[in-house]
Amino acid sequence: MSTALVVGASRALGLALATEYARRGWDVIGTVRGSERTGLHDLAEASEGRVTVETLDMTHQDQIAALRERLAGRTLDLLFVNAAITRGDIPVGEVPTEMFVEVMVTNALSPMRVVESFRSLVAPTGTIGVMSSRQGSISFNTNGGHEVYRASKSALNQLMRSYAARYAEAEHTLLLMCPGHVRTELGGATAPLSIDQSIPGVVDTIEHHRGEPGLQFLNYQDQPVPW
Ligand SMILES: NC(=O)c1ccc[n+]([C@@H]2O[C@H](COP(=O)([O-])OP(=O)(O)OC[C@H]3O[C@@H](n4cnc5c(N)ncnc54)[C@H](OP(=O)(O)O)[C@@H]3O)[C@@H](O)[C@H]2O)c1
Repeated sequence: MSTALVVGASRALGLALATEYARRGWDVIGTVRGSERTGLHDLAEASEGRVTVETLDMTHQDQIAALRERLAGRTLDLLFVNAAITRGDIPVGEVPTEMFVEVMVTNALSPMRVVESFRSLVAPTGTIGVMSSRQGSISFNTNGGHEVYRASKSALNQLMRSYAARYAEAEHTLLLMCPGHVRTELGGATAPLSIDQSIPGVVDTIEHHRGEPGLQFLNYQDQPVPW
């Protein structure tokens, strides 16, 4: 039995990831932020114990440490950090400092803190995945827009490259994933893809690269995304 930890699984792409892994027979630990009931709770209730719900706001270091403590002794075949935020489409010169810090801390620093904290639970040939975005690709950025969100995903990618270099001896599969542009609260109502057109492909791609050491930036169709 394989086990996945999906951080940010309350709704949208994260919930769909948890659902897809559970459907494929995995044990799934999913995280939510607050005390409100979410789709993950419904999934857990229907899963006969295979899906469990943990609480984590990944911008709080004490909560990361507490969850790490609660999961001590578990082995993860997949650690996947899905959570992120966006704060609108504002040119960078007009972005309040607090907003810049919030997006950067949530989308770039916090996923790395989760990865650093939980890496020792990941099986030697397991996978560490983080949800990035094509918007984080510097070479694809010819249109601009969503400047701080883009920058946060570029920073995340850069930090994962540093992480991969620092742990070059480790055998973990490291993946930065782009799910495509999907209709969610973050992706917007006019995005071309439904969640069902994205997430099975994300999971197929993650699983296709199982056991391959090193870092790759891939989309939901298993194609490399240019850095
Ligand atoms: N949708 C797209 O078109 C698209 C495209 C490219 C990449 N992505 C990436 O895919 C991932 C999921 O996107 P989505 O469209 O599903 O977004 P979403 O609908 O806005 O959902 C975001 C998820 O992240 C969680 N989250 C936010 N901040 C968190 C924090 N500090 N700690 C823990 N969880 C937190 C949310 O929890 P709450 O329910 O508590 O708010 C929610 O579960 C993100 O990394 C996003 O950047 C999305």
